Amino acid sequence: MRCHHLSVLSVLATAPLANFTTSFARPWDNVRIKHTWNTVPPDWDTLGHPPVGTTIDLHVALKAHNESALIDTLYKVSDPKSSKHVLSNTFPRTMYSHVPLLCRRYGAHLSKEQVAQLVAPHPDTLGLINSWLDYHGVPSSSISTTLGGSWLMLTGVPVSQANALLGASYQLYRRTGTNDTTILRTIGYALPAVLHTHVQTVVPTTHFASMHTLQQTPWRSAVRAPADMASRELVTMPSSRNIRVTPSDVRWLYKTTAYVPVATDRNQIGIGGFLNEYPSPVDLKTYMAIHRADAVGVGYRVAVINGGGYDPRRPSTEGNLNVQWTQAMAYPTPHIFYNTGGGLRIQPGNREPAAGDAWLEWLKYILKETNVPQTIVTPYSNNERDLPLEYSKALCKLFAQLGTRGASVIFTSGNGGVGRGNCVVNDGSGKVQFNPEFPSTCPWVTSVGGTTDGTTFEGPEVAASLSGGGFSNHFPRPDYQDEAVPTFLQDLGSKYNGFYNADGRGIPDISAQALGLPFILNNKPLLSFGTSGAAPIVAGIIALLNDYLLSVGRRPLGFLNPWLYSYGRAGINDIISGSNPGCGTDGFSAIVGWDPVTGLGTPDFVGLQHTLLGWS
Ligand SMILES: *[C@@H]1O[C@H](CO)[C@@H](O)[C@H](O)[C@H]1NC(C)=O
Ligand SMILES: *[C@@H]1O[C@H](CO)[C@@H](O)[C@H](O)[C@H]1NC(C)=O
Repeated sequence: MRCHHLSVLSVLATAPLANFTTSFARPWDNVRIKHTWNTVPPDWDTLGHPPVGTTIDLHVALKAHNESALIDTLYKVSDPKSSKHVLSNTFPRTMYSHVPLLCRRYGAHLSKEQVAQLVAPHPDTLGLINSWLDYHGVPSSSISTTLGGSWLMLTGVPVSQANALLGASYQLYRRTGTNDTTILRTIGYALPAVLHTHVQTVVPTTHFASMHTLQQTPWRSAVRAPADMASRELVTMPSSRNIRVTPSDVRWLYKTTAYVPVATDRNQIGIGGFLNEYPSPVDLKTYMAIHRADAVGVGYRVAVINGGGYDPRRPSTEGNLNVQWTQAMAYPTPHIFYNTGGGLRIQPGNREPAAGDAWLEWLKYILKETNVPQTIVTPYSNNERDLPLEYSKALCKLFAQLGTRGASVIFTSGNGGVGRGNCVVNDGSGKVQFNPEFPSTCPWVTSVGGTTDGTTFEGPEVAASLSGGGFSNHFPRPDYQDEAVPTFLQDLGSKYNGFYNADGRGIPDISAQALGLPFILNNKPLLSFGTSGAAPIVAGIIALLNDYLLSVGRRPLGFLNPWLYSYGRAGINDIISGSNPGCGTDGFSAIVGWDPVTGLGTPDFVGLQHTLLGWS
């Protein structure tokens, strides 16, 4: 049955706001701090003010008129149980009573235009912001809307004007001890008090965490490091753990070997790349010749965003690892590789600060597409702690938009267990706080942790000790975790009280083999040790499930978690041993049921496919 009752109530019920411009003589001068770090974040040096005449592009995230509409809709289209709410024999007394009843929302993903309606700001918001910008002399020709009208973009704002608008002091910053490209940031900013209820965040302002920390450094056996990798962390695995897990092993273990994709004219996998870390089509062909002899004519499309560039003669670990493993799992499903610029990799001779915010530029690009790939995997992250709260919340909503559009958005949970280093909070209190990774901590994406099982596949899989996991300090526990997470916390008891946020979103959601995954770089065989390899395995399996659904005329899975935590559990291998030490502690332990080491467990393709039979 098809169902089209996607009309948006929110934009119709517009309660008039107070007219602030008449309530206050000078509302624009009454400013309040929006966010500040108080001091330059650790690991960053200031290089002072930018040259006179420097301009900056500002992005202003506007609050939606109906704050709950996007997430309510995301659940309706992603939760297989949501049909129960609309199965009804009583005729609803609304203006939408012409909508067919017995209609379900599960799988009824929205178009770009429908999502734009859901996230539309209140009409008064735009009026208010325009008079504020006008007051500061920002020409209307430099103002445009983006991200479906939920963000404003101010192009080419002189830094002096940006400072006045935002009560800011933009300066050039560079990561301590590097020659990286600089970034233009301010350690704090303010907005008129009347705008606080209308504006969620302004980008770029206080988001310092660099694309370096987006890197999930894969741990590799100490095979000779290519020159461009010299600064990366290399961990030599003890010889007793000489693990090597091939695509054939993984396809056998997760039961995808027998499945042959057929919906390859409609199904697509997207891979998010940053930092000019490209894949190589030559390395991919070599890899597939070894591991998937059936893969003739393998390739991928490339989308270059925000000056990202693409030089396949200089491939990187992340680019190759991801493309090689998603292809090994899901060939011949078409692939698109997004390379987004704006990271901080040094560009010799370039004295300009890095352009744009790489996360935001990528999301702007992909959300503008009429059709988004059904499966999207990105092996990069930041420490949640390094991000301004409102910035991570604004990005998280954009990932929710992707889910509402029908994409399964997959991230790695990190390679540092519960956190790298000693995890002492930088406030002088000496307090230890576990340090989870964003975007994994966003409840509207799927977070992938890591497992291993040695060389023989004789025993059950166990958690990989590097598997990132824990609880968000930015995002509360989502409804779909309301059973799984409290069960774990009850078992944990008071251990680690104060080290983590027991009310936070738990990560990961699912996991996969992460240790000893072969890939090829510059024609050399290497092994990856990290969740950077687990995420493309899960993405490949989800792409195969989407292929199956599309091939029988059904909608793709979209946002996975409500299904994974309900019917999907029947198709997941529970992982019940191992732990993820970090922050100077033993970390959490994998137990029966969900745990913040391996999530629900590892995918069983046949079992997961089985959970999709019998309902549509
Ligand atoms: C906001 O959206 C929700 C879910 O779509 C809807 O139930 C609610 O009525 C809307 N509220 C307003 C004030 O429009
Ligand atoms: C940065 O560049 C300068 C000058 O080229 C050089 O002396 C220095 O070693 C470089 N530092 C790093 C960390 O690469």
